[in-house]
Amino acid sequence: MIPSDFYRGRRLRSSLTMRELVRENEVRPQDLIMPYFVVETDNDSFKKEISSMPGQYQLSLKQLEKQVDAAVKNGLKSCILFGIPAKKDETGTQAYDDKGIVQQAIRLLKNSWPELIVIADTCLCEYTSHGHCGIVKQGDVLNDPTLNLLARAAVAQAKAGADIVAPSDMMDGRVAAIRQALNEAGFENTPIMSYAVKYSSAFYGPFREAAESAPQFGDRKTYQMDPANSREAMREAVADMEEGADILMVKPGMPYLDIIRQVRDNFDTPVAAYQVSGEYSMIKAAALNGWIDEMGVIMESLVAFKRAGADLILTYFTEDVLKALK
Ligand code: PBG
Repeated sequence: MIPSDFYRGRRLRSSLTMRELVRENEVRPQDLIMPYFVVETDNDSFKKEISSMPGQYQLSLKQLEKQVDAAVKNGLKSCILFGIPAKKDETGTQAYDDKGIVQQAIRLLKNSWPELIVIADTCLCEYTSHGHCGIVKQGDVLNDPTLNLLARAAVAQAKAGADIVAPSDMMDGRVAAIRQALNEAGFENTPIMSYAVKYSSAFYGPFREAAESAPQFGDRKTYQMDPANSREAMREAVADMEEGADILMVKPGMPYLDIIRQVRDNFDTPVAAYQVSGEYSMIKAAALNGWIDEMGVIMESLVAFKRAGADLILTYFTEDVLKALK
C-alpha cells in the first residue's frame, strides 16, 4: 500500500532549473581569496612548484604579476600575500621593513590593479630564522614583546597599500596592538581580518614547505589552539572582536565546519574560512590519482563552507574555480 500523503522531496529536484530555483547556498567569485607566495629574488623568471602542493608556486615579483594578470582576467577580486625573504633573522626584520618582499608585492599589485583587494598576512614566521611567529627567548615564544613587531608589520603593509591586514600569529592582544598602531599611523580605515580561531594543525604542513616557515625547534602548540576545543574558540573570537577585528577567520576549514557555524551563530561580523594547504594537497593528490572528480569535490568542499555560515573563503583553488564558473 502506498500512502497518499508523504513528503516528496523529489518534487523540487526534478530538473537543474528547479534545483537552482530552491538552492540555498552559492559560491560566488567575489567570495574567493587566492593565496600567493612571493619570493625575494633577482631572478625575474623564478617560478618554483611547491612539491607538496602541485599547481601552486613560489613566485618572483615578475611571475606574481603575470599570474595575477591572468587571474584578474578570469575574475579574481582578492588575494592574500605571503612573503619569503632573501634573509631571515631572529626578529623577522623583513616583515616590517618598508622594502620587505610583501610590501614590494603589495605596491606592485595595487599599482597595476587598484581595484584588486590585496590582503597581507601579518606574521613573523616566514621572516624569522627560527620559524616561530614571535620573538624567541630561551626556547619560549614571548607574547608581549612580539606585539610591537606585529604592529609595525601591519603598518608597513598598510603603508604599502594593503587593503586588509590579516594577523595569523595567535599572540594574545595582537588585534588591539595592530588596531592602535594603524590608527596612530593614519590607517583607521584599514580593516583587520583576524585569524581569530586558528588551530595548531597538521594540515599546515605543505604551507610550511611553500613559505619555508617550519619552526626550527618545537611546535606552535603554545600559541595556536588545541584542535579538541570549541568553547575556547568563542573566547578567542570574542577577544578579537573586542580588540577591533572587522572579519573573523576560522582555520583550517573542512575539519572545523562546526566552529565556522558557531562563529556564524554568535557574531554578526563577516566570517572567513581558510581551506588550508593540507586540504588542498589531499584533494589534489586524490585528483591526480584519478580517484575523485576534482572540480566536483572542490565545489562541494567550498559550498560546505557557505552552508556552515562562512562569507569569505581563502582557497588555493580560487583560480581553478574562477575558470570553472566563467
Ligand atoms: C603563518 C600562517 C600559516 C598559515 C597561514 N599563515 C602557517 C602556520 O601557522 O604554521 C597556514 C596556511 C596553510 O596551511 O595553507 N602563521
